[in-house]
Amino acid sequence: MKKNNFYITTPIYYPSGQPHMGHAYSSIFADTFARFMRIDNYKVHFLTGTDEHGLKIQKAAEKANEEPLEYCNKISKVFKDLSIKLNLSNDDFIRTTEKRHYESVYDLWNKLVKSGDIYLSKYKGWYSVSDEAYYNNDEIVEKNGKYISTFSGSQVEWVEEDSFFFKLSAWEKKLLEFYENNKKFILPISRRNEVINFVKSGLKDLSVSRTSFSWGIKVPKNDKHVIYVWLDALTNYLSALNYPNTKDKLYKDFWPASVHIIGKDILRFHAIYWPAFLLAAGIEPPQRIFGHGWILSGDEKMSKSKGNILNPIEIVDVYGIDQLRYYLMKEVSHGSDGSISLKNLENCINSDLANNFGNLCQRVFSFINNNCNNKVSTNNKFSKNDQNFINETKVLTKDLRTNMRDQDLNNYIKSVIKLSFLTNKYINDEEPWKLKNSDQDKMNNILHLSIVQIAKISILLSPIIPISSNKVLNALNIEAEDRNLDFLDGKKIFKDKILINNLEILFKKIQ
Ligand code: MSP
Repeated sequence: MKKNNFYITTPIYYPSGQPHMGHAYSSIFADTFARFMRIDNYKVHFLTGTDEHGLKIQKAAEKANEEPLEYCNKISKVFKDLSIKLNLSNDDFIRTTEKRHYESVYDLWNKLVKSGDIYLSKYKGWYSVSDEAYYNNDEIVEKNGKYISTFSGSQVEWVEEDSFFFKLSAWEKKLLEFYENNKKFILPISRRNEVINFVKSGLKDLSVSRTSFSWGIKVPKNDKHVIYVWLDALTNYLSALNYPNTKDKLYKDFWPASVHIIGKDILRFHAIYWPAFLLAAGIEPPQRIFGHGWILSGDEKMSKSKGNILNPIEIVDVYGIDQLRYYLMKEVSHGSDGSISLKNLENCINSDLANNFGNLCQRVFSFINNNCNNKVSTNNKFSKNDQNFINETKVLTKDLRTNMRDQDLNNYIKSVIKLSFLTNKYINDEEPWKLKNSDQDKMNNILHLSIVQIAKISILLSPIIPISSNKVLNALNIEAEDRNLDFLDGKKIFKDKILINNLEILFKKIQ
């Protein structure tokens, strides 16, 4: 991959039902990083899409009385529409039913056969359709006559059928070496430890084909077998770059992926199976897997089967997309699970967006509008208070790049919102309105510094609340190509004279 290129992916979603807040969270989380890397002058490729094969989808289609492809066409569109509703900046939307994906999967399969990592045998064991996962005996308990996975809580069924196997057991040592040599391959650290412990406890060969249903990609030269949906699905990250054409510009520019953003429930597939498949096929593994926590409703993971879904589309319609994006990114601590509620959403909108950042913008813009004819200038002669304000800003912005590069969005947002708080305080302390008739130069310096600060905060918040940030940056007449993080390296955002436009109210307070 070229230096300064960044390839980031969301999980591709099962189109097996309506999207919920957990899906929205995973997507917005990835979108925030994609947007951040763009303003940090990286060339970004951001991928999302739908995972359309396997028994789970076949069953969902049967229930809807539709052919699987017809069903997928319909539900995949719902997820595509969601990506627009959530204002995702994805460069591509892949569907695993596309021709480009089939070619990629065939190629990977053939490579694994050629390397001697795939063999034919019989699978006897537990399978969960809702997780599309195999479980060991020691991961199953019996509850009210049903067998349940202790790992996910999903129901499992006993399966006995002919199957191809991937020699996962042979990759145990090499995977552990790979984790050791790539300390940030799995983040957060707690997830890394979880994976390492699991691998150390011993890996069994993995069944990578099924023969008891038909909806999937057929094994080359053996169409009795359908390729295991996870081997199929994971390959989407390569298909989207036109693999197996490794000379393709997209592939050369963007593989290996910089980060796959995923929820913690699908960590095993991404952090164990995926690098093992790739290493076996002689393809470089991705640089990072980031496993975020779950959105909870009450104490439980939000999911269709539990019937505790908050509908992201309804919430966007009532509260606004920037409001939802900000709330999810700020409130849910990214390594761990987080409970969300409408009450907390409303409190967060009022305290951070309306009363803090929104109020800061409104008061500064209307003051300049009412008193300075929309123009401010500076003579660069700063008082001790101005200088303190400038220094405190430097301290608060110092670690922002590192925060984002480590997917530490919580600390990033905390620092940025503190900047806004600091600016409101600076204005309260300096009282520029009292200087109108006595010291216009000083008043102008204060306003100029405040506007510079608003520009910085808006740029920093643009990955999270792009629509509102851009309203401010438009009103500040900052060109699109200048909406970047160069100011963190000391580049000035404005000349000494600034002309602004009027700014509409950004966030309505919720009563
Ligand atoms: N199709 C697989 C992913 C294949 S990637 C090669 C899948 N799909 S999913 O639709 O079930 O989930 C997509 C993503 O949403 C996963 O990262 C999952 O962790 C995330 N979430 C689903 N429910 C969630 C919550 N309640 N909270 C946060 N994210 C969770 O898995």
